[in-house]
Amino acid sequence: MSFKVTPPPVPRLNRCELAVPGSSPKFFEKAAGGKADVVFLDLEDAVAVQDKEPARKNVIQALNDIDWQGKGKSVSVRINGLDTQFAYRDIVDVVEQAGHKLDMVMIPKVGTAADVYAVDMLLSQIELAKGIKKKIGIEVIIETALGMQNISEIAASSPRLESLHFGVADYAASTRARTVGIGGPNKLYGVLTDKDGDKARDFHWGDMWHYAISRIVVACRANGLRPIDGPFGDFSDTDGFRAHANRAAVLGCEGKWAIHPSQIDLANELFTPDVAEVAKARRILEAMKQAIAEGRGAVALEGKLIDYASIRQAEALVNQADRIAAKAAS
Ligand code: GLV
Ligand code: MG
Repeated sequence: MSFKVTPPPVPRLNRCELAVPGSSPKFFEKAAGGKADVVFLDLEDAVAVQDKEPARKNVIQALNDIDWQGKGKSVSVRINGLDTQFAYRDIVDVVEQAGHKLDMVMIPKVGTAADVYAVDMLLSQIELAKGIKKKIGIEVIIETALGMQNISEIAASSPRLESLHFGVADYAASTRARTVGIGGPNKLYGVLTDKDGDKARDFHWGDMWHYAISRIVVACRANGLRPIDGPFGDFSDTDGFRAHANRAAVLGCEGKWAIHPSQIDLANELFTPDVAEVAKARRILEAMKQAIAEGRGAVALEGKLIDYASIRQAEALVNQADRIAAKAAS
């Protein structure tokens, strides 16, 4: 290990993060009573310009009136971009009037570490002024070329920072990727197998978002943050969501957004470690405990080599499974 110690992420379950437009208060109670680990009330892109102010009022009222945490939810508010005329009031009004009920603020389109610093400064002042004891966390969406370019500095920008999210739609717009869908593959992105005489060649679709997700995972894990995959727009395509979520989970993401209630159970399922996998991880820990007691650093288990690195892999899985079980039991 490096001499520099990376802290573990804030232990907050984040398998499913449900987006709810601040302009649709009729959905708030249902979202609070539903099964998402985190709900973010949106003041940004799901809210029309003329609804920005009423949406902000709705959100303040919902934070104060609904017992989100009592219902097992973490609750966040996505403010408008820092380049708009709305963002400062989103922060000041929401946090002054309901900051004691707020777990996190989500900042969209972050481009530099200074963007996070500015929000951190405002949050710190409002918390002091209003006597808000619990520090409000920050979630950041990486969804521009600038944000991706500066991701290392952004990931290290504030002790309030809890997670980086991949905003695939804005990222596509910013990088001018050839798609108008929200997430999912593009049939043009792939490779053709080599020529082999007259034999038919296969075209293998690739994941055009692989670099972005991997880069976010690395920045998060190097800084003690949770990597979270963003939206998948086609909510009628359950299999597409499954594939998209699975590949993010396999790379190390802890969760994914739901932009429709039909995606909540799926996200919870796909970001809950598989029972057989967890059982195997427990067997690895047991076998390594025994190996260490016998003075060995590596042993064979079920025909495969395991060593000290296997302990760290297994512990990550078991700890997450235990946290999920504890929530289910509470
Ligand atoms: C989310 O905000 C996205 O742009 O995908
Ligand atoms: Mg976006």
